[in-house]
Amino acid sequence: MEIAPFETEHFFAKYEFNTPYQLCNSDCESVTISELLKMAGVSLEELGKQSLAYTESQGHPDLRRLIAATYETVSDNDVVLLNSPIEGIYLAARAGLEPEDEVIVLSPAYDALIHLFEHVVGRNHVKRWEFEKGSAGWELDLTRLESMLTPNTKMVVVNFPHNPTGFLPSHSFLQQLTEKLQSRNILLFADEMYHGLVHGGREPVPSSADLHAPAIILSGLSKTYGLPGLRTGWLVIKDHVLKQRVINWKFYTSICPPGPTEFLAIAALRVHEQLRRASLQTIENNLNIADRFFERWRQLFEWHRPTAGSTALVKMNVASVSHLIDPLASSQGVLIQSGKTLGADDQHLRMGFGRAKFNDALQRFEHWLTEEVATAK
Ligand SMILES: Cc1ncc(COP(=O)(O)O)c(C=O)c1O
Repeated sequence: MEIAPFETEHFFAKYEFNTPYQLCNSDCESVTISELLKMAGVSLEELGKQSLAYTESQGHPDLRRLIAATYETVSDNDVVLLNSPIEGIYLAARAGLEPEDEVIVLSPAYDALIHLFEHVVGRNHVKRWEFEKGSAGWELDLTRLESMLTPNTKMVVVNFPHNPTGFLPSHSFLQQLTEKLQSRNILLFADEMYHGLVHGGREPVPSSADLHAPAIILSGLSKTYGLPGLRTGWLVIKDHVLKQRVINWKFYTSICPPGPTEFLAIAALRVHEQLRRASLQTIENNLNIADRFFERWRQLFEWHRPTAGSTALVKMNVASVSHLIDPLASSQGVLIQSGKTLGADDQHLRMGFGRAKFNDALQRFEHWLTEEVATAK
């Protein structure tokens, strides 16, 4: 069956490695292998001793234990290691659904959270639960979801904290969502790649893995922990029949995780709180810088500070953000991303706050905007 173009990944493939100042990344600042090992008190020599043989398909037991310990009610046997977080979305769609099942997804969203489900069940069987703009920023309406559920609905796909809006539901919202789906026997797919990135001292919400409902949870080290190059992701599945179906699909996509990655992921999990705090600190600093920038450019942007995650979806009062990308990249080396790639309109841009060079990139963007405004006068 056809699959839609993966707009976000095509966009980054074109610009990410040749545009030095980026304002649109969803990942957080990374570290080197040496830095990670030092943090975790592990020597490079130990890394060198790792075998390059096949590994346990469900994931190294130590790694699964460390991951399970980051949840309240998850056991190591509920955890399935992946070869990348993105793989988990494909496996969940394949193992949890049949063609023509009905699925509800968020919109806008990271492309795979829409298109992989369309690919499996058929485009006409995927409904979009749209974010709406409230006075304080992006909102989701639970009653709207309720009106979309039918006896054919098999799965609801969410992603909290949300990429790109930065939306985080309250604990009670999550609880109500869980109860609504549980009472109808609908499976929840919860992408929690940005879990733990909650701003301004706000109370974090629990993982859906701990809310006792039929669910597949996706998480990994790419975003909150700043290690996207490790390609470490995992699913939490408490229903072991479903888990076995996922593992069967995984035999066809990757068989088992790479040993060197697992070794480094174990080191990362040992210092996960330190890595999370470093990411959050960078995001909070960059959000403060962004607050001041948007205060100076109130006519051009509609800014609402996101409550969680590493990104925001910001309205820009121009005809097309897409048309600005190439001139800005070639004259200033600055990369911006249109919300269009994520299913929003072309008058929004996704901003990312997790990178150390954010301030330099924003200054260059501001310099360019100032020149453009002067030229337009
Ligand atoms: C919400 C969400 N889920 C999954 C992924 C995939 O993560 P990875 O690129 O590490 O496979 C991303 C990446 O941007 C994402 O934003």
